[in-house]
Amino acid sequence: MTQALLLVGGKGTRLHPLTLTRPKPMVPAGGVPIMEHLVRRAAEAGVTRLVLATSYLPDAFRAHFGDGSAYGIELCYITEETPLGTGGAIRNAAEMLTSGPDEPVLVFNGDILSGLDIADLVRRHRDAKADVTLHLTRVADPRAFGLVPTDEDNWVLDFREKPTTPEEIVTDQINAGCYVFTRSVIDRIPAGREVSVEREVFPGLLADGGRVLGVVDTSYWLDLGTPQAFVKGSTDLVRGLVPSPALPGPRGEALVLDDAEVADSATLSGGTTIGRKAVVREDTRVHGSVVMDGVVIGAGADIESCVLGENATVADGVVLRDAVIADGDHVSAVPAELAR
Ligand code: GTP
Repeated sequence: MTQALLLVGGKGTRLHPLTLTRPKPMVPAGGVPIMEHLVRRAAEAGVTRLVLATSYLPDAFRAHFGDGSAYGIELCYITEETPLGTGGAIRNAAEMLTSGPDEPVLVFNGDILSGLDIADLVRRHRDAKADVTLHLTRVADPRAFGLVPTDEDNWVLDFREKPTTPEEIVTDQINAGCYVFTRSVIDRIPAGREVSVEREVFPGLLADGGRVLGVVDTSYWLDLGTPQAFVKGSTDLVRGLVPSPALPGPRGEALVLDDAEVADSATLSGGTTIGRKAVVREDTRVHGSVVMDGVVIGAGADIESCVLGENATVADGVVLRDAVIADGDHVSAVPAELAR
């Protein structure tokens, strides 16, 4: 009977231009919106009610997910007029929960792909009688993340956001963007103003002697916040490197969605997705890419590690590497800056 909040109100600026027309958690990875993988995994883990904390382009979520009944979970929506930050969003959205003060509430970032055992995280939180439990993961280069060192009993010692000097890199454990809060802790977050959970709520809890637990889980984890990470996440999903109950087809070298037309002489590989009603013409090669719905790729093209936005068109013979093409754009020749 665990209830949960999903933070999906960010502007997703690092994923421009894809996020000019849809919120980041709705960008399709492995054929479905990024967050659909999490929604299905949360339902499987026993989450009964999930509140979506929206702000940027809020209508896109309800249009796709509705009341959640198709996903085996009750979905509710709340919209911030102006974004309240991660902590403010949690405080605001918790109004839609019915959990009692001592009950655990799960909180997820909407752009994370992970194989975390969600039910186990809640169990660990309860067993330790923690105020907050954070999912931590280990990364080779932690500089772009929030560092979270812990003691031998897994209690959090410090929060260090995005370290810049080598001395500040005290651990390879980072905040993985999934938390369990004891409900009463959420109710103590200041209401009605912008609050960051990473910079204000967690450090404040530690300073006040709160019980903040870190659970290191080294199963698959990826923050899909940048184009490179997004392409990796989508291709990993298609190839089955991250298990997901939401993948709309068998895993393999490519996922071809309904009503797509792929010429017999075209080759698809590296976990490529071909969207609905997309067309891939003769002798074209598409490797490790995300081709969204309605895209048309001409004959003899060579596309690798790219994202082609909805209804984009690519002319015959074009070679593209590491490119992100906006919805509806036409690529007639290889622009110099993309032809690396
Ligand atoms: P960038 O602009 O590229 O940094 O992306 P972002 O705006 O999504 O920010 P970030 O990746 O740091 O956000 C982490 C998660 O929190 C994402 O799932 C966001 O949707 C969500 N989020 C960030 N800020 C807010 C906010 O003010 N309100 C709500 N409801 N969610 C937020």
